[in-house]
Amino acid sequence: MNESSHRVLVLMAHPSLYRSKINKAMRDAIKDTPGITLHELYQAYPDFYINVRHEQSLLLEHDFLVFQYPFYWYSVPPILKLWQDVVLENGFAYGEGGDALQGKDFMPAISTGGKAEAFSREGNNYFTMNELLYPMQAVARRCNMTYRPPRVIHGSFEQTDVTIQMHAERYRELLLEYTRQGAGIFEPKD
Ligand SMILES: Cc1cc2nc3c(=O)[nH]c(=O)nc-3n(C[C@H](O)[C@H](O)[C@H](O)COP(=O)(O)O)c2cc1C
Repeated sequence: MNESSHRVLVLMAHPSLYRSKINKAMRDAIKDTPGITLHELYQAYPDFYINVRHEQSLLLEHDFLVFQYPFYWYSVPPILKLWQDVVLENGFAYGEGGDALQGKDFMPAISTGGKAEAFSREGNNYFTMNELLYPMQAVARRCNMTYRPPRVIHGSFEQTDVTIQMHAERYRELLLEYTRQGAGIFEPKD
């Protein structure tokens, strides 16, 4: 555990990191950063046997939960769905006595193959990104976490190395700023 007073837990789920450009760059930008715990689910659980108690204690030790993943069929890669199914237990994350996540912040950090304009009524995905993320918002709300604006990078395949690097660097800065200031970074400035 680190010394920071506002601790960030990044749950990263990418099933084939060796082929990744975006998530790998984001991962490389935040790894070994004080105050940020990077937890790579596919590396931690290659057999998909998730240690529920360990995951729950990690959650208790952090203030800001980030799901970092490539958009797969409008949703999360399978291990992140499994993580939600087994870790967000009744009595822990919701339901009677389930207040472990109360007051924490939550943010999805997503890369999509589709370009920004594809996520619109006129585009081939029809639905907006905000609409497609309603399930994420619902999970955060049900667990009494505050849903923060998602970090999304669209058009993964068209991004240059420079723009990917910039995206990764801004991601790092946001998380680092959170470790310093906490949720205040999301409040509008005067
Ligand atoms: C199984 C699978 C499903 C995907 N589904 C979507 C999708 O629903 N929408 C989309 O925009 N991109 C989709 N993609 C593209 C990925 O989101 C894209 O490859 C990824 O964000 C790139 O990030 P990376 O460089 O870290 O791998 C899919 C890719 C795979 C392999």
